[in-house]
Amino acid sequence: MSKQFAVIGNPIEQSRSPELHHAFAEKTGINLSYSKRLAPLDGFAANIEEFFAQGGMGMNVTVPFKEQAFAACAVLTERAKIAKAVNTLWMQDGKLYGDNTDGQGLVDAIKALEWNLTDAEILIIGAGGATRGVIYPLVQAGAKKIVIANRTLARAEQLVTDLRPAVPQATLEATSLNDLAGHFEIVINATSASLTGDALVLPEALQFEYAYEMAYGKPSSFLDQAKTRGVPTSEGYGMLVGQAIEAFYIWNGIKPELKDFL
Ligand code: ATR
Repeated sequence: MSKQFAVIGNPIEQSRSPELHHAFAEKTGINLSYSKRLAPLDGFAANIEEFFAQGGMGMNVTVPFKEQAFAACAVLTERAKIAKAVNTLWMQDGKLYGDNTDGQGLVDAIKALEWNLTDAEILIIGAGGATRGVIYPLVQAGAKKIVIANRTLARAEQLVTDLRPAVPQATLEATSLNDLAGHFEIVINATSASLTGDALVLPEALQFEYAYEMAYGKPSSFLDQAKTRGVPTSEGYGMLVGQAIEAFYIWNGIKPELKDFL
């Protein structure tokens, strides 16, 4: 029988994970089946219990269950502990393990673009869960300074206070979106503005060389402004593929090449 995997969320119809994992399986010769599971908002724990009781090998977790998955795990990786969110689950020695591959997915996507991360100074716009999950992997990959700009300054300040002990080798700073200025190598939009169709206005005083939008497949005023400035851009499909590859690697021990799936 093939190995069973699944992605759990609510909603789940939009998920691209099954097609990605089936493509990785075909490329690497692994026999697996990867399905979508729609859990009711109050039914996450029962759903994952059923999946693993039936012999499921691994599960990805998407909105809105990543924090519940974090709370459900008996063992967490360092990056999952720091992210306080889990997107990859598996059973080992009868215990539920959790990891968070989103940040490494972003790092691998940026590396595939050949944008430099070594000693890089990075600006992240937004201070929600998406930002929390990527700071540690970006610093592990070489970033030396990360500034977090947020509409609500207090939230960025709180994130910096929380995350500073996890990345002592880097400089972390918080700023208000209104006060954005200075020069950065990479700017990452981690707000949900593109998902809700809101505009983000980047001031002229802000200069940057590369722009990454974490959302994908949506109109993005952030990317439009970067393109107007002639800056190379990318949107979040590479990150999506990257996090899926990292989960596939945890479960199957083989790492497909990101470039083959872009
Ligand atoms: P996620 O887990 O995806 O990061 P989140 O925790 O809801 O989602 O965070 C959304 C982020 O997008 C926040 O930083 C939010 O800013 P506030 O903290 O000020 O709410 C940011 N955001 C959402 N819509 C925005 C907009 N129109 N302009 C600027 N920032 C926006």
